[in-house]
Amino acid sequence: MNLALHTTICDRFRAEVPIFGFAHSLEVVAAVTEAGGIGIWGATRNTPEEIIDGLAWLRDRLGDAPFGIDLVLPSGMPERDDRAALEAQIPNHHTSFVASLRAKYGVPDDGLPGTRSRFVRSQQMADRQLRAVLDSEVPILAMGVGSPAAAVQGAKDRGKCVVALVGAPKHARSAVESGADILVAQGYDAGAHTGEIGTFSLAPQIIAQAGDVPVVVAGGVGCGSQVAAALALGAVGVWLGTAWLFTKEHATHPVVLDKLIRASSSDTTRLRADSGKTLRQIKTAWSDEWERPTAPTPLKMPYQDILVGDFLGAVERHEIEPLLKSEAGQSVGFFNELTTVADVIARLTGEADDALAALTRRSSVQV
Ligand SMILES: Cc1cc2nc3c(=O)[nH]c(=O)nc-3n(C[C@H](O)[C@H](O)[C@H](O)COP(=O)(O)O)c2cc1C
Repeated sequence: MNLALHTTICDRFRAEVPIFGFAHSLEVVAAVTEAGGIGIWGATRNTPEEIIDGLAWLRDRLGDAPFGIDLVLPSGMPERDDRAALEAQIPNHHTSFVASLRAKYGVPDDGLPGTRSRFVRSQQMADRQLRAVLDSEVPILAMGVGSPAAAVQGAKDRGKCVVALVGAPKHARSAVESGADILVAQGYDAGAHTGEIGTFSLAPQIIAQAGDVPVVVAGGVGCGSQVAAALALGAVGVWLGTAWLFTKEHATHPVVLDKLIRASSSDTTRLRADSGKTLRQIKTAWSDEWERPTAPTPLKMPYQDILVGDFLGAVERHEIEPLLKSEAGQSVGFFNELTTVADVIARLTGEADDALAALTRRSSVQV
């Protein structure tokens, strides 16, 4: 047991270190838990059937060890998965802009959907995904972008721990009021959907709002001194997403891995072009195109998902190099080689131990 880093999170979940690992890859999730942390499976783009299968696979592999699932349940989505109705409302200017990118980069129109367009984000789909989670044995339900009271209550009624990702103090208040058990203070620095406030400014404000509810820090964490800093701020752990893209378990496409390895913290940008909400990702030709003054203003979710989903799917299937990309946080600058999940956790833990020991030495120096 690592006593220096031991927090209530370790007791609560029987984890060795208070490190949550978020990933869309089941292999990564399993490996995080096996390395002593807590793996969280991002399943927002999975069907209810895939969720049932994925959670069963994790349970088989991990037994009683802790793991969780993350859903994104934004408010204001259409009632049903009616793609034609959505498409009818997409302005021509937007459709022709995507068509122009298709022509410019030679992206084939293969008639297949991508991750964002394999189903329409709708209330109906969210209810079905949530039902699959509630009926499963998964012990932790995390929610990015809002934590609807009904989902929180449903999970708590079934004895699940509810984790809410929050990017602003006002969201912390509503998450606590709806009954969240743990808050993740996710700062501007984070990969994927993220708000306006930097992690180091956000975390203490969320901790102040959270009262007795424990807080975990996310966004930009890539080395152990940040883990020590998170604990010093009063957090009970850290939550990482970008780190795992560099692991063998994640099996990131080689071109994307190479872009990630070459990226520094200033090589990411926040863009609404993928989903309609600000999404931090590495800079590529995709972000360059949408950041041009002549580009249309992205539509709101889920219209933007449908506008670009098939196109981005084809980019991946046909490996259109300039447009291949990944969500990534400013933490991308801490990783510069292919590694393993266990190595990432060992490095973070070792560095955090060193940082805490250095702090103790410094404070015991006689003046
Ligand atoms: C590739 C990638 C995909 C992500 N997808 C989601 C998601 O579907 N749901 C979610 O709540 N958070 C998602 N996140 C954000 C993570 O949960 C986490 O807050 C973030 O990665 C922390 O910052 P870091 O990227 O600097 O480690 C994603 C992050 C990355 C890097």
